[in-house]
Amino acid sequence: MIKIAPSLLSADFAKLGDDIDTVKTADYLHFDVMDGVFVPNISVGLPVLKSVRNYTDMTLDVHLMITKPVRYVRDFAEAGADIIVVHLESDTPEEIHRAIDTIRGLGKMAGLSIKPDTPADAVDEYLDKLDLVLIMTVEPGFGGQKFMAGMMPKVSYIKSLIEARGLKCLVEIDGGINPETAALCAEAGADILVAGSDVFKAEDRAQRIELLRRACKTF
Ligand code: DX5
Ligand code: ZN
Repeated sequence: MIKIAPSLLSADFAKLGDDIDTVKTADYLHFDVMDGVFVPNISVGLPVLKSVRNYTDMTLDVHLMITKPVRYVRDFAEAGADIIVVHLESDTPEEIHRAIDTIRGLGKMAGLSIKPDTPADAVDEYLDKLDLVLIMTVEPGFGGQKFMAGMMPKVSYIKSLIEARGLKCLVEIDGGINPETAALCAEAGADILVAGSDVFKAEDRAQRIELLRRACKTF
């Protein structure tokens, strides 16, 4: 069954606890960290993650859209992240390897994310030690953008690499997910779907999460 990860970027940060309660039937909570350098936007960071960790037992999927993330992965692990995702484009390959190794050494799940312009092959050298690959279907930085269906061959290709090597690595997709695009992602081989605006703008969020799951069921 596909996993749904509502993105707190679309929540109301003045009533975050209440908003988390409305999506507690989801599988993971997606937490977007932006530094205004790697992406042209600034979101939230360590103090907010700590508060969220104290509030909920849900699996916290932390998406670091920050430059040189190796500097901060230990802090995010200590603040309560369960999954820490760094961007392949955010540092040199050596430092990205070091970030992934540090995350794993801390007993957390390690993820690597790629932006739309980054080719699928770029993940190859990291794949064996990843718990998750996050494929962006929008340019990172903002919620509410249009889904890039052109990324689906990349999803299928990465999934086929994972299967060919017998790895347990999960495939996560982030950006522009709604019931229609969710089905495309499931068909391409996704395991986890991040959904921000689609879930949070719904009146009944639990029902919307269920609708996203159901849209994926035939695959
Ligand atoms: C964008 C973030 C996403 C964002 C998705 O950079 O990584 O997680 O919240 O928002 P929607 O689902 O609205 O595209
Ligand atoms: Zn994200």
